[in-house]
Amino acid sequence: MSTTDLAAPEDTATPAAAANPLAAFVQAPREVPLDAYWMPFTANRQFKKNPRLFVKSAGMHYWTDDGRQILDGVAGLWCVNAGHNRPKIVKAIQDQAAEMDYAPPFQMAHPKAFELADKVAKLTPAGLNKVFFTNSGSESVETALKMALAYHKVRGEGTRTRLIGRERGYHGVNFGGISVGGMVGNRKQFGAMVHGVDHIGHTHDPKRNAFSVGQPEHGAELADDLERLVGLHDASTIAAVIVEPVAGSTGVLVPPKGYLNRLREICDKHGILLIFDEVITGFGRTGNPFASQTFGVTPDMIVMAKGLSNGCVPMGAVAVKQSIHDAFMNGPEHLIEFFHGYTYSSHPLACAAALGTLATYEDEGLLTRAADLQDYFAQAVHSLRGEPNVIDIRNIGLVGGIELSSIPGSPAKRAFDIFLDCYERGVLIRTTGDTLALSPPLIIERGQIDQLVDTVRGSIRRHA
Ligand SMILES: Cc1ncc(COP(=O)(O)O)c(C=O)c1O
Repeated sequence: MSTTDLAAPEDTATPAAAANPLAAFVQAPREVPLDAYWMPFTANRQFKKNPRLFVKSAGMHYWTDDGRQILDGVAGLWCVNAGHNRPKIVKAIQDQAAEMDYAPPFQMAHPKAFELADKVAKLTPAGLNKVFFTNSGSESVETALKMALAYHKVRGEGTRTRLIGRERGYHGVNFGGISVGGMVGNRKQFGAMVHGVDHIGHTHDPKRNAFSVGQPEHGAELADDLERLVGLHDASTIAAVIVEPVAGSTGVLVPPKGYLNRLREICDKHGILLIFDEVITGFGRTGNPFASQTFGVTPDMIVMAKGLSNGCVPMGAVAVKQSIHDAFMNGPEHLIEFFHGYTYSSHPLACAAALGTLATYEDEGLLTRAADLQDYFAQAVHSLRGEPNVIDIRNIGLVGGIELSSIPGSPAKRAFDIFLDCYERGVLIRTTGDTLALSPPLIIERGQIDQLVDTVRGSIRRHA
């Protein structure tokens, strides 16, 4: 039997059905030519000495090329929210590939693009009812930043050219995204980047907020840093502020109570657009379709990707307020209103995958499932308090961050070793610096939360 014989779609989301479909056979180790592929965001030399290869996925699990079952504790890369190989998504992609491979998105379209935009607009907070498609989170960020600049220009406020990000923010890897982003490692190799960018301070405050369960109590006033930048640059020069409601890639930083509301108020006061980057928090991660709904704060634009198509076909989107869209709808009707788009915007396969994904979320109530599980999940991750080197634990919905003290002189080494150890013991987690991040598919069962956290606990102890 080959691995492709196992590819028939079947619902493996339930624990019983998720029994190891590879258990009956052991695959001969595959000869893989490792040299040519320059891997992204990877320690290439370390990896190629001891490669970690997945060849199969179903429900909550991956399988490695040597037949080991791995519990997915990070939804692939925070994207496989409905779990792996879900039947509606698989079928939607297969059917679309057979029916129509590609349709140009400039001056032409296909019906599923409109259907999908309509469904996404119904999930976003009221008022954000226009949707622009991209192929990734990074492209969605660039799209939102360009929209913000162009919006002010078409309204006659072309002096608003400054973009504001936040320290410790991650907004993908393109030039706009790394410029407004606040991760030093992602910026330092790339020169001056986009000009006219500034940053407010981050919200991480372990002195006051360590081991907060859910939203930290202290720090709403940190949003006032935006007033400082308005004082420095003047509001008439500022187009937009972009933040992640929960910063994911810099270690799961949950917004302090009242912080996002305050940011909204300051943006409103000064006519500055507020953009939420919900690439990680979108599609159910915090217990609602979007974190904007969880925190009760509506931005002017929402950047999304990942969970939109369950990671199955690359796709991103930007949802914007009607008023932003309408500001562009001027001039002769035969002329293009917004000079932006991608060859693969609203790609038919991506739209099919996303429609299958949204149907799966709806059938199984997945976009609110994190709200039901969050207390159990919180208890589980906070049970790691007191384990060796654990200096903070942060959580919201089905996302958790466990911060460890660094080995002196070797930042990120302890977490990386724990990541490798968990993998050897059948659990996939993610690390950023010395923080372990957990963000499992939203179909996770309580017993699997226990397995995830207990495996992490064992690894933390082994690396004390
Ligand atoms: C908040 C946020 N924005 C943007 C991105 C970039 O998305 P992509 O890797 O799809 O370009 C990510 C990726 O993790 C993200 O977490």
